[in-house]
Order: sequence, then structure tokens, then C-alpha cells
Amino acid sequence: MNANAHGDPTRIDEIADNIYRISTIVGPEVVPGGFTFNQFLIDDDAPLLFHTGPRKMFALTSDAIKRVIPAKKLRYVAFSHFEPDECGALNEFLAVAPNAEPVCGRISAMVCMGDYADRPAHALADGETLELGRHTLRWIDAPHVPHGWDCGFLADQTTRTLFCGDLFTQFGSDHPVVTSDDILESSEGSRRALDYYAHSPDTAAILARLAALHPTTLACMHGASWRGDGAALLTTLSDRLSEA
Ligand SMILES: [Fe+2]
Ligand SMILES: [Fe+2]
Repeated sequence: MNANAHGDPTRIDEIADNIYRISTIVGPEVVPGGFTFNQFLIDDDAPLLFHTGPRKMFALTSDAIKRVIPAKKLRYVAFSHFEPDECGALNEFLAVAPNAEPVCGRISAMVCMGDYADRPAHALADGETLELGRHTLRWIDAPHVPHGWDCGFLADQTTRTLFCGDLFTQFGSDHPVVTSDDILESSEGSRRALDYYAHSPDTAAILARLAALHPTTLACMHGASWRGDGAALLTTLSDRLSEA
């Protein structure tokens, strides 16, 4: 595992009001070219973690959280879809945070959480909101976009931050925390190289729903977070996918 400029593989930075990006670098021996796994902590009356990171990174992720709040205060542990980087450390977080509930879409609650999670999931219906205090999150079902039947995203209405999971995945390990530069060409390169998108007929409609939220910060799971006209970028992504 590589270290960042501070000698620590994991850094935590505030990217929007009380929203923190926890980013862990892995080197080319793990993923060719290096890679980043980003988790997001919303520090609020009911603190929420979006993505747990892989199980084997639990210590790194929880240590980073502790720089902002005690990990035991987590109230919700949310994730986009059932994969190790999105929710591999879920049970480890449930063990240290006695009041924490898994938060996911209804498909994941039905198919995965009943067997996998050590406590029942708080399932959100498509469009349902979750109040954290100052932040209000909305769950958007996104089956198979970019992958996973259970896939969905959370959007913070307060800061217009879209927790967009594996959309706009950027490979490499040397990224700014937040950028307004183009991330689409990098993510399109990743998509072409690895074909991690499902080829769903509903992709354009789902991306249009996300664009209609007009996010101004895209909290990407892999690579830099992005600031700008999120609706325009999501629409451009949709156009590119329709050409593929
Ligand atoms: Fe994924
Ligand atoms: Fe991911």
C-alpha cells in the first residue's frame, strides 16, 4: 500500500460543509497504475458513512474517521451496491458503532443484507429521504448503473453533493482531493479498459434523473471529487455511453 505525501496511505479532507472524503491509496502491485478507495463521512446529528471501504482497510478507514468523530457515534453506514470496496467492512463498523444501521436500497436489503449484515438494514425506497440533521439525503435507485442490480446513490440536498459511487472512476493514485478539471476522459479511459458498466437499457434515464438533481459536487469513489455543473457532466457521460 503506497503512502501519500504525508506518509500515510489514508487522508481525510472536508470537501463540502461537514462532508469528509476519506481516501486510501493502493499501489500498482494491487491495481495496475495505482488506485484510490474513497469513503465519505457526513458529520451531522446522525453521522453517516457512505462506503465502508474494503474489510482489510477497516483500521485505516476507522482511524481516519476518528480524526473527526469517534467511530462509535456513526448512526448510518450506507453504500451504493454490494461489493467489497463499497461495504466489505460493514460488520466491522456495526461492531464498533452500536447504534449504526446499514442503509441501502430495497433490493440490497432483500438480497444481500438479510444474510450478510449483522443488524437489519434500513432500506430506502427510490426517492426516499433520510434526515441526518442539517443534511437531507435522497436515495436514487440506479439498477445496473454502472453495475449491480442493487445499485443506487445518495444525494445530499443541502450541499448538492452526489455520492456517485463508481460513476466517473479515475484510475491512478495521484489525484487532487477536489478538482474542477475534466474527469470524464479519465473515467472513460477506465471504462473502455475494464468494461465495468453493465449495458442497461435504462442507463440514459437513470443518468437523466441524477442530472435533474443538479449536483455541484460529485463525490467519486475512485479518484478526485469534482466541483462544477454536475448536470452537464452527467448528461455528457450519458451521451458518451449511448455512442459506445
Ligand atoms: Fe462497484
Ligand atoms: Fe467502487
